[in-house]
Amino acid sequence: MAALILFGGGGDLAMRMLLPSLYFLEHDGLLPEGLKIIGAARSEESADDYIAKVHEAVKARAEADKVWDEASWSRMKARLDYLAVDATSPESLKPLKDKVGDSEITSFLAVSPSLYARIVTAMKAAGLAEKNCRIVLEKPVGRDLKSFLEIDDAVAHAFSENQVFRIDHYLGKETVQNLIALRFGNTIFEPLWNNLSIDHVQITIGETVGVGDRWPYYDEYGALRDMLQNHMLQLLCLVAMEPPSDLDPDSVRNEKVKVLRSLRPVTVDEVERVTVRGQYVAGVSEGKPAKGYDEERGQPSDTETFVAVRADIDNWRWAGVPFFMRTGKRLPEKRTEIVIQFKPVPHSIFDRDDRGEVQANRMIIELQPEEDISLTVMNKRPGLDQRMQLQPIKMSLSWGVDGKSAAPPRRRIAYERLLLDAMAGDSTLFVRRDEAEQAWKWVDEVSEAWAESGLKPDDYVAGTWGPESADMLMARTGRDWNTTD
Ligand code: BG6
Repeated sequence: MAALILFGGGGDLAMRMLLPSLYFLEHDGLLPEGLKIIGAARSEESADDYIAKVHEAVKARAEADKVWDEASWSRMKARLDYLAVDATSPESLKPLKDKVGDSEITSFLAVSPSLYARIVTAMKAAGLAEKNCRIVLEKPVGRDLKSFLEIDDAVAHAFSENQVFRIDHYLGKETVQNLIALRFGNTIFEPLWNNLSIDHVQITIGETVGVGDRWPYYDEYGALRDMLQNHMLQLLCLVAMEPPSDLDPDSVRNEKVKVLRSLRPVTVDEVERVTVRGQYVAGVSEGKPAKGYDEERGQPSDTETFVAVRADIDNWRWAGVPFFMRTGKRLPEKRTEIVIQFKPVPHSIFDRDDRGEVQANRMIIELQPEEDISLTVMNKRPGLDQRMQLQPIKMSLSWGVDGKSAAPPRRRIAYERLLLDAMAGDSTLFVRRDEAEQAWKWVDEVSEAWAESGLKPDDYVAGTWGPESADMLMARTGRDWNTTD
């Protein structure tokens, strides 16, 4: 028997992401046989009431994806249970321990990270951290290196590293894994994947949502800690890492750590040149008036809701290739993409006039809203013009484009992959302690440089691509951000 305990089982993450993911896995027959799913939270409610809430949440999501069926739900329902617990008290965890016995136990902490240290300590005392147990930690673990280490030390006291699964849900996204396939499952890209052929890399995670009611959390973190420390640096690592010798968790993670160690520290002298902070002011977002961050929060704050950074990776492969990253709330599009900008041809034999200049190749790895990988190449415009005319053609490397492949599969929630992997004990797509440590170290240097230099966020109007200074960051180097067509 196996058990999955969802601490915070009635909360937002569990209801919006984890339980729907489990339903989809159930629907596809992918859940381990005999798996029990136990919601554990403070609220004193019966298992029936809890299951009714899960039913509502899961059904709404599955219907939207057109994969709701009663048979799958009844199978999932048979696995579900609920227990009211105070997870910080070993006494209160005893009945939970009795329920799961000595099965393979995966505990998911979908609760406030401020409770992590106390919960893992109580779990150890209650026998929920034995060899048959694993723990999954949702981000953010800490808000800087020091607090990360404090929490993680408590975790390490209860669990050994191979039992710990630190989630970065971006690693569960299909296209992120496809990036590994693209780089290491083909011979044609890897020889070009370096500073001889690549001019620069851009990583954008744009969101249209504002911070809204999440401000008490967000104000403590800002875009740097909420997005860049984890999701963006993970994407950067996957683009920049050396080929691992195999797909074993440690082989992959060793390579990612090397990239993080090679990130050039951002010093106080450089911080204004290589970073931008922004904060949205009132504007129009998705056709509706949107408040500024300060208005949402009720008073002025120096927290950035947008960050752009130029990162340099000091190693042989990437010397001289800047990695530009930007992310923000209240941008015009929900869009996540990685742009690999190749260098121009060394010498053009074509006319440099309006007949079509040679554009450098560009690969775009799009994670959201669509999952797609495309490559722009130059092509002759058909016709009998005396002087050859060129045009860029975008080739899609996605599912089904050859007209023969099956329709693309349903877009999975990133947590589906990650829940399965955690229950199977595969930590390849999870963040190792030293990775998180290095990422915090670099991010701490940025935030310390901000504090020391007094760099404040520049305003940007909600519904635009961030402050002008973000465009300047690129323009100063003779480049610009990719725009969608
Ligand atoms: C979370 C951040 O980790 O990722 C949120 O805390 C952000 O602020 C979210 O909105 C974005 O995730 P996705 O998968 O919607 O791009």
